[in-house]
Amino acid sequence: MPRHRFAIAVAALILATSAADAQNPPPGTYRPGLGDLMTMTVQPRHLKVGIAGEERNWTYVKYETHELEEAFDRITKLVPKWREFDIAALIASSVKQPLQDLEDAAKVESPPLFYDAYEKLTAACNACHQSANVGMIVIQAPKGSPFSNQNFHPQKP
Ligand code: HEC
Repeated sequence: MPRHRFAIAVAALILATSAADAQNPPPGTYRPGLGDLMTMTVQPRHLKVGIAGEERNWTYVKYETHELEEAFDRITKLVPKWREFDIAALIASSVKQPLQDLEDAAKVESPPLFYDAYEKLTAACNACHQSANVGMIVIQAPKGSPFSNQNFHPQKP
């Protein structure tokens, strides 16, 4: 093959390859936003803790409250700032204490302490939503479970 023809063939190949790359870009890393993390990792756990408290399932309340705490810890690391808001500081000043109170209530298996802490947690969710200018997101104690495939009754050891 004459030299110039070879060069044209190589150039054509490079063009074809980059066109194919543009059509099939490599898969990007999935980066959920704050609203995604709230919907996926915070909202269902807030709900499950509420149902388990109704069921007096203290072992599970302790477990799931800890999961919720970890979900907030991961949000603190992944989304420390959202718009102009310091999410890490807001988490520390809003939900941390009620989460601790919930764990304490579950340890002593006290329904009144549980309800008190759960109400404070829910109020903290809403206080943060208001501080972050998303006050239209209103959280409340659940009315029944959408997780019909999970049994929240206490199990015998
Ligand atoms: C640190 C502040 C903060 C705390 C604490 C917080 N949230 Fe949020 N939440 C936000 C912000 C800000 C958004 C909006 C994020 C966005 O639009 O990307 C949000 C969004 C949400 C959404 C998505 C709304 C929708 O309908 O799509 C849900 C659900 C939610 N939060 C539930 C909760 C619950 C339940 C709690 C408490 C257990 C909680 N949040 C605590 C700041 C907070």
